[in-house]
Amino acid sequence: MAHSDYSGSKVGKGVALSAAAVPVADEQQETAHDYDEWLERDSLSARWVRFWFSPKRTLWLNTPVRALAARIPLQSTDRVLDLGCGYAGLLIYLHRKIRFTGTVEGLDCSARMVERAREEIRVRGMQEHVNVRQGLATELPYADASLDAVLCTYVIKHLSDEPLRTVLREVRRVLKPGGRFCVWEAAPSRHRFMQVWNLKLLRLGVSVVHLRTAAELRGFLEAAGFSDIQPYGHGLYYFYPPLPRAGYIATRSAEK
Ligand SMILES: C[S@@+](CC[C@H](N)C(=O)[O-])C[C@H]1O[C@@H](n2cnc3c(N)ncnc32)[C@H](O)[C@@H]1O
Repeated sequence: MAHSDYSGSKVGKGVALSAAAVPVADEQQETAHDYDEWLERDSLSARWVRFWFSPKRTLWLNTPVRALAARIPLQSTDRVLDLGCGYAGLLIYLHRKIRFTGTVEGLDCSARMVERAREEIRVRGMQEHVNVRQGLATELPYADASLDAVLCTYVIKHLSDEPLRTVLREVRRVLKPGGRFCVWEAAPSRHRFMQVWNLKLLRLGVSVVHLRTAAELRGFLEAAGFSDIQPYGHGLYYFYPPLPRAGYIATRSAEK
């Protein structure tokens, strides 16, 4: 199966993709465009998002990553992908902890995110071990059964149901049998007022936002053929305002 490599191209509104990729790519291009514009702005919300994306501070929002290496468990020889990696904060953290001997990968649809991620990696001298490229989650530029683990944190809210199914099929394709998929995302609030408030907050700079309950997320993982689906990272995303989080670690079973 051929996969596009977007590393040298600008993914944004109006970029031509292969005919087969267009229906699911439109929404993702919109998200890429939204992030690119948001990160460039001088507004309060743009400063707020740049503050939280920094490699150090993203760990405060991604608290489940701290126990992940032991939970999966990750080895120094593992090939890992962080799908929708932002500024690559999780890869930088994991490489510090595990000292990968090969190269771990980050993929993100936003050109600005990729640019900044590469800079964060460069200033830490990690270029040999952490590689980030631009691309869409529905078309992973990796070979079948080539990865030991895929992370995907706070990304799937930007995918409506059909693209999400495609992404999960892609994640299964690139994972080795027995490989692990770790996903967490903001979930809907049970309180009506908080739900309206949280959606407003999450849509400050990006228009495509779909929140799913833990049960719904599990349903998507099951339908995509993942097995041994264990809750991981359920809790709170932000404490104030309180925004719930749903997450799982799922296994790519050996059968097709
Ligand atoms: C909320 S940020 C989370 C970043 C990082 N995972 C973290 O937790 O700090 C969502 C990221 O996913 C990326 N993203 C959203 N949809 C994507 C898609 N379809 N393909 C690739 N990247 C995507 C965005 O550009 C953005 O960097």
